[in-house]
Order: sequence, then C-alpha cells, then structure tokens
Amino acid sequence: MVSTVLAKASESRRLERLVARSRPARAVAMRFVAGERLEDGLDAASALAERGRSTSLDFVGERVVTEEDAREAAAMYHRALDGIDARGLPAGISVKPTQLGLLAWPARCAELVDGIATRAGEVGAHVTLDMEDSGTTEATVQLVEACHRAGHHHVGCALQTYLRRTEADVVRLEGIGASLRLCKGAYAEPAHLAYQSRRETDASYRRCATRLLAHGTYPRFATHDDALITHVLDEAARLGRSADSFEFQMLYGVRAELQARLVDEGFRVCVYVPFGQRWYAYFMRRLAERPANVLFLARALRGQ
Ligand code: FDA
Repeated sequence: MVSTVLAKASESRRLERLVARSRPARAVAMRFVAGERLEDGLDAASALAERGRSTSLDFVGERVVTEEDAREAAAMYHRALDGIDARGLPAGISVKPTQLGLLAWPARCAELVDGIATRAGEVGAHVTLDMEDSGTTEATVQLVEACHRAGHHHVGCALQTYLRRTEADVVRLEGIGASLRLCKGAYAEPAHLAYQSRRETDASYRRCATRLLAHGTYPRFATHDDALITHVLDEAARLGRSADSFEFQMLYGVRAELQARLVDEGFRVCVYVPFGQRWYAYFMRRLAERPANVLFLARALRGQ
C-alpha cells in the first residue's frame, strides 16, 4: 500500500518541486545518488572500480517535456561516455527511453538512442535501456531489436519479472543475443499486467533467471535479494556457467557489504550509479522499495 502510493508519487511534478527544495530530503536522497554533476558519477565509478566493481552510469531523469530536454539528456550521455573513455573505467550506461522522448517523439528517440549506441560501441561500453512503466515496455523491447538490426549488439534492456509478459520477452530478446538485466520491477502496475504478490514475482524471477543462465548472453541479475542471489548461484553451478559469464547488479548505496562479499568470492558485481539534478523520481522509487527508507526521510524532516 505505502509502496504503491510512493511509486505513484514518483510521477508528481508538484511533489518533485517540494521535495527537491528540502535540504533534509536531499541529504537522504544522496545516500542513493552519487551527486548532481557528471563528475560526481564518474568519481563514484572510479572509487567503485578500485574496489573491483564495474558500474552503469545513469543520468537521472525521465518523461521529458521538450525535444530540447531530450537532446540535452542525450548530450549528457555522450559526455558520460567520453568520461568513461578518458578515465578507462569498466563502466557502461543506463538510459531511460522516456528521457529521450520515447512517448512524445518515438522516431527522434530512436535516432538519439542510435547516436548514443554508436558512441558507446566506440568506447566499448554496454548500454542498458532501463525499463519504465508498462506503457513503455513494448516500445523499449522494439528499440533493443532496432539497435541489434543496426549492429549495436552491445545494447540490451531491463526486464521486470513482475510483468506477466516478461518470460516471453526473455525468450524474444535472448533469441537475438541481447544481454539483459533481470529485475523485479519498481512501478505500480495493474493486476491484469503484473503479478501483485512477492511470491509470484520471485517465482517469475527464478524461472527467467534459470532460462537466461541456460541460454542467455551474459545475463545481468539486478537484485539485492539473498534468496534470488542464492538461486542464481545454484543454477549457474548446476548449468556449468562460469563466474565471468554473468554478473550481479546492485544499486548505489544499497547492500554494499553484499557487493563486497560477492566480489571477494570471485563473482562480478556492477553498481548502478545515478547522478544528476532530477533525482526525485528515482529517489521515490527507492523509498517505495523499502519502507525503512521512509523512516530515514521522516527522521531527517523532523530534524529540519
Ligand atoms: P527486495 O525488494 O526484496 O530487496 C531485498 C533486500 O535488498 C531488502 O530486504 C533490502 O535489504 C535491500 N533493498 C532493496 N531495495 C532497497 C532500497 N531501495 N534501499 C535499501 N535497501 C534495499 N526496476 C525497474 O522497474 N526498471 C529498471 O530498469 C530497474 N533497474 C534496476 C537496476 C539495478 C542495478 C537494480 C539493482 C534494480 C533495478 N530496478 C529496476 C529496481 C528493481 O526492480 C527492484 O525494485 C529493486 O531492486 C528491489 O528489489 P530486490 O530484487 O532488490 O528485492
């Protein structure tokens, strides 16, 4: 219930203006966001690389309103790729298609994605298209297919196991060799499209993970859930999958000790590193995932 309200609140521009102006809210948000500048994201990626972790840089923002905003977001990704190249970082990027205008100008968005994918290919960086709400799923899957047709085989997307369609999408995209990120899903979705219980979403995660380990190109398991991580490790061992043929992905600021343990045990860990000024919606989804985070925020606001 609280999660659904917070997930919905992530879409409110009015609340965004209020929360972004609050100093305590900002201080709590910065537990999950590397900072507001590209340099902050690159510095965090450099520090994580020293500790054996790769990263995926996310310029926070979504659902742009003007074409100019979409172009600016794309330009930031080009600068991020330049930074990754200049610093020689083991890093890729995570891009929200609606930040490039997926819903407003799909053709323009496809061009911007193509430009980013071309630069990423030169730098040797992987591009993951984040998966947003269900209104964007089919268009995002089609963007990945278009990228592969254009020869950008280093472009994949996230798939959300709470969606009933996802097992079919795993098969569809694994068929073209796309490297996929598997996550549970962070938006509020209706029952006819998405499992509503944790039990069903986790069961779907297990089925998709096993499928990806059996057939997928370098699967990326995005979860902090011990039970699902154990499932991935057990299934990787059973299927004879080497430790360098898949990775775990976790969010910046979440379960750093678990990240370190997996790295120490010889597994690959990639940290999702958000940066930028439009951190509100990202932050609200992090609150929705874990009610304890709301308590941090409430305490910070009380001390205001
Ligand atoms: P679960 O929610 O059960 O959490 C397991 C444990 O992890 C918790 O008990 C807690 O200890 C810790 N934890 C989880 N979330 C936390 C938080 N916010 N703060 C503090 N602790 C937390 N979603 C989406 O819809 N589209 C996308 O593109 C992506 N991309 C993405 C990339 C990466 C790298 C990750 C890790 C996640 C995403 N997600 C996402 C979010 C994902 O769908 C999901 O909402 C969160 O990962 C939480 O689910 P878990 O699998 O971690 O399990």
